[in-house]
Amino acid sequence: MNNQAENETLSSDIRTLCAKNNAVILAHYYQVPEIQEVADFVGDSLALAQIAEQTDADIIVLAGVHFMAETAKILNPSKLVLEPEPEAGCSLDESCPPLDFAAFKAQYPDHVVVTYVNCSAEVKALSDICCTSSNAVKVIESIPEDRKILFAPDKNLGAYLAKTTGRDMVIWDGACTVHEAFCRDKIQDLKTQNPGAKFIAHPESEEAILEMADFIGSTSALLSYAKSTEEKTIIVATEAGILHQMTKENPHKKLIAAPINEDNTCACSECPYMKMNSLQKIYNVLKNKSNQVDISEEIIDRARLPIDRMLQISQPQLA
Ligand code: 13P
Ligand code: SF4
Repeated sequence: MNNQAENETLSSDIRTLCAKNNAVILAHYYQVPEIQEVADFVGDSLALAQIAEQTDADIIVLAGVHFMAETAKILNPSKLVLEPEPEAGCSLDESCPPLDFAAFKAQYPDHVVVTYVNCSAEVKALSDICCTSSNAVKVIESIPEDRKILFAPDKNLGAYLAKTTGRDMVIWDGACTVHEAFCRDKIQDLKTQNPGAKFIAHPESEEAILEMADFIGSTSALLSYAKSTEEKTIIVATEAGILHQMTKENPHKKLIAAPINEDNTCACSECPYMKMNSLQKIYNVLKNKSNQVDISEEIIDRARLPIDRMLQISQPQLA
């Protein structure tokens, strides 16, 4: 069987298992196309959290990375949450070990602790309020002006938020290795080769990249912008998996993945963690009910509060 035929067979078997087990598959926009196609919902990290909280399904398969599966479990602990690949982490999460973060936080006892959801359940449990890239500005603006803010773990998103909101913030020194790889010179060359092209970027990118952008936003905001702009050529600085959904929504536009510093075969940015998932792994976890996310009740209770606070001030996202 060729790859396409294999994928079709696996996808059909996965849908059969979902129906039999009352399971839903939630996939992030950075997943490979065949996973986005087999999923019940595709969305950004906020939308996936909102859907996980509301679903009536008995089983949630989270095709994304570990912190997303943990968030789903925290929001809906009675469900079985399965992750196709438990090793699918995130460089931001890894940059922020809970014990180190607790010690850092202890240095700033009068600060409101805001954490980007790209962190562990334990770090969320040490937070006052969480945010995603979709609602981060709103979350910061919800904090009274006289309160100081500690932000973790993404220094680039933190710097962008400090600049956008004018708030003084203590920021943890973490970064997304994928969004830090974009190359300013190569992007400038692409802009020159494509006069008038819009350049759009995720706020996890470095300031030097964001300075060049016509639009900055979360994955869902980048998708909305791509649909609404009249411009026919768009250079996109986020994980290249987003181009699957963007191309579906904009079949007649020229969409270019922003190039990265290192020479690699596709010259575009792929998250090695997101790309650890596969149809076969989704099939396996559904078949065996394996790779169940397990978080202690104590952590679930403590991590739930900052996530709930975030959800209360977020618009519902349509995945
Ligand atoms: P979004 O919140 O835009 O989905 O981003 C998640 C993520 O991991 C970005 O790298
Ligand atoms: Fe983490 Fe970056 Fe991968 Fe998103 S793209 S999951 S922030 S490493």
